[in-house]
Amino acid sequence: MGKFQVLDHPLIQHKLTIIRNKNCGTRSFREVVNEISTLMAYDVSRDMPLQDKQIETPMGKMTAKELAGKKVAIVPILRAGIGMVDGILELIPAAKVGHIGMYRDEKTLQPHEYFVKLPSDIDQRQIFIVDPMLATGGSAIMAIDALKKRGASNMKFVCLVSAPEGVKALQEAHPDVDIYTAALDDHLNEDGYIVPGLGDAGDRLFGTK
Ligand code: PRP
Ligand code: URA
Repeated sequence: MGKFQVLDHPLIQHKLTIIRNKNCGTRSFREVVNEISTLMAYDVSRDMPLQDKQIETPMGKMTAKELAGKKVAIVPILRAGIGMVDGILELIPAAKVGHIGMYRDEKTLQPHEYFVKLPSDIDQRQIFIVDPMLATGGSAIMAIDALKKRGASNMKFVCLVSAPEGVKALQEAHPDVDIYTAALDDHLNEDGYIVPGLGDAGDRLFGTK
């Protein structure tokens, strides 16, 4: 079973409260989603491998550490995942970015894939799949299916708010994928929205309500 981790650093929790508030406008929502994503990237990247590097400080020679050339790809699930990309790029600027377009049918709650564009060497990259919301888990599961079909194997799923139903479904479908979230909420309502959640992440990010 993959790791499930709630990243409950006080700064993350404080910022999450800002975006949960229904009075938070589009501009602040966008800014704070990026800030939370940067903070989460710090923990999500904690196990990136290091290698030795010989350097010279002003005081003399030393064996220092550098990232071991592990290639990273950030893959947002469209639309709302786009809101998390820039925040992660702040910490990992050399990462490539792939896109997976997915929308959830409002009645059936079933996800539908409409776009996939990935770096050509996706099979060799450590992948951070990002989407603010893990609700039923259908979109995340289908996005990971699409990535695996194209050779991806090293993946972590990063979201802001998750529901117990989605975590369970994702862990069962893809036990090899670690899940990182800023909050595990109470439940899904009859329309498949996370309660208390933060509403429709895509609409709040892009002002489309
Ligand atoms: C939202 C959200 C996730 C999905 C989560 O996207 O960003 O992708 O729902 O729900 P699930 O876990 O039940 O699949 P939505 O389908 O609303 O598309 P959008 O980002 O384009 O608004
Ligand atoms: N998608 C969202 O944007 N919000 C939810 O609460 C559930 C799915």
